Amino acid sequence: MNEEQRKAGSLDVIAQRNKKEKDYSQYFETVYQPPSLKEAKKRGKEEVKYNRDFQIDEKFKDMGKGRTFFIKTYGCQMNAHDTEVMAGIFEALGYTLADDMLKADVILLNTCAIRENAENKVFSEIGNLKHLKRDRPDCLIGVCGCMSQEESVVNKILKSFQNVDMIFGTHNIHKLPEILEEAYLSKAMVIDVWSKEGDVIENLPKVRDDYFKAWVNIMYGCDKFCTYCIVPFTRGKERSRRPEDIIEEVRDLARQGYKEITLLGQNVNSYGKDLQDIEYGLGDLFEDIAKIDIPRVRFTTSHPWDFTDHMIEVIAKGGNIVPHIHLPVQSGNDAVLKIMGRKYTRESYLDLVNRIKAAIPDVALTTDIIVGYPNETEEQFEETLSLYDEVEFEHAYTYLYSQRDGTPAARMKDNVATEVKKERLQRLNKKVGYYSERALKAYEGEVVTVLCEGSSKKDENVLAGYTEKNKLVNFRGPKEAIGQLVKVKIDEAKQYSLNGTFLNIVEAEAVEA
Ligand code: 5AD
Ligand code: SF4
Repeated sequence: MNEEQRKAGSLDVIAQRNKKEKDYSQYFETVYQPPSLKEAKKRGKEEVKYNRDFQIDEKFKDMGKGRTFFIKTYGCQMNAHDTEVMAGIFEALGYTLADDMLKADVILLNTCAIRENAENKVFSEIGNLKHLKRDRPDCLIGVCGCMSQEESVVNKILKSFQNVDMIFGTHNIHKLPEILEEAYLSKAMVIDVWSKEGDVIENLPKVRDDYFKAWVNIMYGCDKFCTYCIVPFTRGKERSRRPEDIIEEVRDLARQGYKEITLLGQNVNSYGKDLQDIEYGLGDLFEDIAKIDIPRVRFTTSHPWDFTDHMIEVIAKGGNIVPHIHLPVQSGNDAVLKIMGRKYTRESYLDLVNRIKAAIPDVALTTDIIVGYPNETEEQFEETLSLYDEVEFEHAYTYLYSQRDGTPAARMKDNVATEVKKERLQRLNKKVGYYSERALKAYEGEVVTVLCEGSSKKDENVLAGYTEKNKLVNFRGPKEAIGQLVKVKIDEAKQYSLNGTFLNIVEAEAVEA
């Protein structure tokens, strides 16, 4: 056990805690470092350390020779990007990507814990892999990502899924070579989950999934602790990357010809608050990135509480930060927002929306909404519907509330029947559909700029891509359009996409030499 792991909780402490349930540590001769939600909740004052010296130890360099890997990713963009990093590590170890999960020598499930149905999908996949482990005992099966950070999940895997060889969390993906080595050598399941975040590791290898669009982490973790949300426990405290590291990564992506980046964080508006030696926030980062020759910059996700006027000002200038703002509201009722711990009111949310719309008239606003929070009344739900009408969101991701172990909301009693919640969700989705279709319809006859990503999923002869406001456009055009920004005239709006006629490829305009 090294110093970093010791900080996260000693084996003695963990063994004692587990006595309440079952003390599994006695069965382990190898790494046994399970998660603790209680530890994960603590927010220490210790300064974030930046590690730019990451290297893969020479002794691991041939580990993957003649072996293949496959990573199945669930959940959000943060997970998608973690998968790119793990793929980078696998390739640095000499592994190659398997074209079929069931043929791979190492299978990783990079999991999501945000709602119960996301977790159920993973458990059923692990169950399906039992046969594989019986037929090919030498293959390694690993579980990583947010679910691994939950005590209840690790206990369930220990109890019911002995086909799993390794479990590791979100804070130690850079330890993948060591974890694989342990798993090859040990007969027991290797469990190495750090409850507390470690350093920010800068120069991890990556195999990006896309040639035109790239994810760029700007910060990790979340300190908001909305009462329903497991993320502050699974992703640790807020840690911003240094601006110079982010800018260097974006410059490098521009040099490689990437056309679009998405700045990622659980709450990007908190960016910079933890940087103790400089006054530098997301608005400043936007300004610096606007000088780089990347045509499109997206950002996600924003918390309405700390969306600053400076950010609005920079987006309004019309540079490369796209005028599409995803601003999760969760509910339109003050009492519900209060028990959710969202720290804003309906009125202050609407005030922010009005300021955004005044400064950026062509803005596209989208949102997230949770339906069926414990004890939500019909009247409270109707306030969510009326807020939707007031804002006229172009789209929304809507969810039934899902109870998450360890969160404050999990202790709330709930008097609302599931049927009632489902019926409310349907009513909300009808409204979402109405406004989404209306937003698409408004494009008929307009000329839009599309980042052409390749052939459409449905028809190989049709090209597809997205507008800056994230509308899917299908059109026929030359193959040279792939990877380019192109002008398309919209002929027809469908329910979820637009059909158009290709006009021309947009010539690049250098923003920065
Ligand atoms: N139940 C339902 N939805 C949730 N979200 C987060 N936690 C939960 C939960 N426990 C939703 C929120 C958030 C989005 C990413 O997922 O709407 O914005
Ligand atoms: Fe979860 Fe709230 Fe943090 Fe978003 S801001 S990740 S909903 S705690």
